[in-house]
Amino acid sequence: MCGIIAYLGKKPAQPVLIEGLKRLEYRGYDSAGVALLGSGAIRVQKTGGRISALEQILDEPNAAETFGIGHTRWATHGEPNTVNAHPHLDFTGKIAVVHNGIIENYGTLKTWLQSEGTEFASETDTEVITALIGYFYAKCNENEGQLNGQNKFEWAVQQALREVHGTFGLAIVCSDFPDMLIGAKKGSPLILGVGDNEYILASDAAAIVEHTQQAIYLSDNEMVTIGPDGFHTKTIDNVTVSKDLTEIEFSLEQIELGGFEHHMLKEIFEQPKALQTCMGGRIDRQNHRIKLGGIGSYLRALTRTKRLILTACGTAFHAGLVGEFLFEQLARIPAETEYASEFRYRNPIIEDGTVVIAISQSGETLDTFAAVQEAKQRGATVLGIVNVVGSSIARETDAGIYLHAGPEIGVASTKAFTGQVAVLTMLAIELGRRRHISSDQADKHVDELAQIPDKINTILTQSERIKEIAAANIDKDNWLFLGRGFNYPVALEGALKLKEISYIHAEGLPAAEMKHGPIALIADGMPAVFVATAGPQYEKIMGNIAEVKARGGRIIVVATEGDENIRAHADHLITIPDAPEHLQPMLTVVPLQLLAYHAAVLRGQDVDKPRNLAKSVTVE
Ligand code: M6R
Repeated sequence: MCGIIAYLGKKPAQPVLIEGLKRLEYRGYDSAGVALLGSGAIRVQKTGGRISALEQILDEPNAAETFGIGHTRWATHGEPNTVNAHPHLDFTGKIAVVHNGIIENYGTLKTWLQSEGTEFASETDTEVITALIGYFYAKCNENEGQLNGQNKFEWAVQQALREVHGTFGLAIVCSDFPDMLIGAKKGSPLILGVGDNEYILASDAAAIVEHTQQAIYLSDNEMVTIGPDGFHTKTIDNVTVSKDLTEIEFSLEQIELGGFEHHMLKEIFEQPKALQTCMGGRIDRQNHRIKLGGIGSYLRALTRTKRLILTACGTAFHAGLVGEFLFEQLARIPAETEYASEFRYRNPIIEDGTVVIAISQSGETLDTFAAVQEAKQRGATVLGIVNVVGSSIARETDAGIYLHAGPEIGVASTKAFTGQVAVLTMLAIELGRRRHISSDQADKHVDELAQIPDKINTILTQSERIKEIAAANIDKDNWLFLGRGFNYPVALEGALKLKEISYIHAEGLPAAEMKHGPIALIADGMPAVFVATAGPQYEKIMGNIAEVKARGGRIIVVATEGDENIRAHADHLITIPDAPEHLQPMLTVVPLQLLAYHAAVLRGQDVDKPRNLAKSVTVE
């Protein structure tokens, strides 16, 4: 969703802002802009479209302009055009704002400001915040007595933010204070990078690491004022808060393409390494145990829990579905997975002893965050399985386990899925060991789990062949993905991957459900991707393959290496190394990720920036 960057330092700001905006591109956007200070009035340059379009309209960088703010906008209120693009100026032209989030009461505020004589240029909710700050700034002189020595600009921002309902990450500048930047946060991420005589305020650490690894993460209802004497953090209600500098966990190298054509492909290939990092240090071979330090003090509660609720969105939801199978099979704990967006509104029943686990790569997904808050309010213990360290969900949950999968830049989530499943597997094994399985059994599980990264490497060698399969079916506009048991969530994930980046319509289903309706779709040559690996339901899924073949469907199969029987039934065959059924999702998903990737590239789509999508969805 929207990306914010602000720079205050010694370098010409324009190139720094543009570079920062490019680092934020992956979040998803449809217009972009910058505002620069240093040569008198605030200079705004903005346009609908990509950053490349913005670059075409930019003036030459001005060395005097060493301060500025920039934005990538993902449209909510008002279509993606130049007028609605950020930054927005107030009616005096002195105050400029970039915003990530949604102001829910913007309609009421706008009507009131209009009645006070304010005119608006755009349809956005952000312009209302800008106008409100401008309104209070203009009132400062009348209210000098209330300022108590506080800076006028900061005072006006605080007054305005007390009036708004909704979510915001904000960077705000005022031309009367050409060396002062204000950031404020509620519900949308905001991080201040503290460099050597320079500051970078951004909604994402990816835009900061190029300049510094030192950062402070603002919490909700906090603001930061950066000026000539350094930075000060306080609440929006003007109470000073002290924040520690934190080391950003990843490096610039990790967010660059490193020779790959797309971030998605790089991240698919990073999975073996990401899983090794995720599991390394957590697998204790000597004691046949898994060590999960982050939730250490909650393990007893988890062991005794009567019911687990996993909640998440999109790919993370699919990982949660795999988790449901894992907890029931390995730990014998009843588990159910809920869409976070449904959970929060359905009056969920949280009994004594219910533990809720929220799963999120970004840790910023609004629906998942709200589900966490809902579960906490209802008295549940809430744990997080999150990739981004220090993110909102990571901080809101009682405790959690980080994926340590490294930054995921591709909008289509890949290594986060396998990381989430790996964490869920480790947790299920540890709970199983505490509840009923022997040390020998646990040891076997751990041993098999540790082999997964190498097995993924074997699958990755088939990338070119999978590309040929994608090419042979690239003219088809409707696909089915079918699996059973542990591989049913993988079928859902395969369909999601294909549709979100290639725009080919795909449906994922438990294979047996097909005959209850979707079988009507099957016509000559329709691709049906079956995950038909060795396991208790192998014979059943072979029956489903026969049903599709009999109706003229084209059969693409993900099978277990050495399964000669299946060759005769498949038009295209991809194999995975043998593994116990409960570990297969981390393997079977990989060919489906590659299939989607190659299909999207063959169709000429922008794999890392699919239309309409945002990397982390911070609106409802
Ligand atoms: O950051 P999160 O894991 O909370 O994101 C959840 C979904 O928005 C995300 O998985 C989305 O479905 C991806 N585009 C899937 O590839």
